[in-house]
Amino acid sequence: MARRTSTSAPEPPAFERAGAFGASEFAKALGITREQLDAYERDGTLPSPRRRIRGEVAQRAYSVDDLIASRVALGIPSPLSSPRRQLFLNFKGGVGKTVIAANYAYRVARHGLRVLAIDLDAQGHLTKCLGLDPAAQPATLLDVLRDRVPIDRVRVQAAAGLSNLDVLPANLALSPIELVLSQKNAREFQLKKALDGQVGRYDVIVLDAPPNLSLLNLNAILAIDDLIVPVLTDFLSYDGLRILFENLETVREDFGFEPERIGILVNGYTAGESLSQQSRAAIEQFYGGLVLDTVVRKSTAFGQATAEQKPVLEIAPRSKAAADIDRLVTELLGI
Ligand SMILES: Nc1ncnc2c1ncn2[C@@H]1O[C@H](COP(=O)(O)OP(=O)(O)OP(=O)(O)O)[C@@H](O)[C@H]1O
Ligand SMILES: [Mg+2]
Repeated sequence: MARRTSTSAPEPPAFERAGAFGASEFAKALGITREQLDAYERDGTLPSPRRRIRGEVAQRAYSVDDLIASRVALGIPSPLSSPRRQLFLNFKGGVGKTVIAANYAYRVARHGLRVLAIDLDAQGHLTKCLGLDPAAQPATLLDVLRDRVPIDRVRVQAAAGLSNLDVLPANLALSPIELVLSQKNAREFQLKKALDGQVGRYDVIVLDAPPNLSLLNLNAILAIDDLIVPVLTDFLSYDGLRILFENLETVREDFGFEPERIGILVNGYTAGESLSQQSRAAIEQFYGGLVLDTVVRKSTAFGQATAEQKPVLEIAPRSKAAADIDRLVTELLGI
């Protein structure tokens, strides 16, 4: 039997082709077979897809907007049974909260879900990672919480080229937020109140926290369903975890509230490094069931993506970073 001698790489997954899905991936995202997709397009239930020329071949190409419209046309419900608010938090700095939150939000939006990414840090790094210039943003969460400006008037729509990804940006103007919150009644619940006003608008709200023990972060904890705690495999991070969990215990005692789910996310893991292995083992030994199965490995793609202010899925779709973010989305949302 003749063996294929072609040296061309296997067809890359959907998100590798500059934000477009191929037919198989599109069918998979809709939860139907390729044959069903063909049939729906033949009988006009779904519109004829666009074609993109690849060498000699005209391939079908679908966008996230096509995915959303096709779900509506076929009466397919959202792949998520209930909306989630998910906070990336660790009081320790530089553990990957922002870079993971930004790429996670983008990946969830690529699944065709309506996503709002909220930047809680006056450094504006989440804003930047999603392709926006923090300094150019006229309003932030400060305007929402201080002046009750509706979120719809502050959010930036269609970030990173996705019509279903909104960002509530941050910049230095957010700095007085602690003072503003401290002067309010029910000062711990201001963010929750603002987000409760968004019920039904978003499938997933992703929040990126600053690295401090602040009233804003307490507001964030009291507003969420899921807490994701990125932690580096070093022993300082391990110490940071202890402080965070002591704090959560205080929140539980004072407010009778704890997030529905808490997941410790090991980040920057390098399989060959003994320190990485030892500290991961220590985290797992102590926090056992709270540690997520997904591990985000060290990957230069994160640095590259940050520098280019683009998601890793766009600039390095075959990277470990892209694969790990994909796994994280699957583990946290079941999609
Ligand atoms: N898995 C990883 N592989 C390689 N680089 C990473 C990884 N995770 C994070 N980084 C890099 O580490 C740096 C810090 O990441 P990031 O800004 O996301 O941390 P942070 O926890 O949000 O920090 P801060 O507490 O200051 O807000 C960034 O330059 C980022 O690109
Ligand atoms: Mg950050």
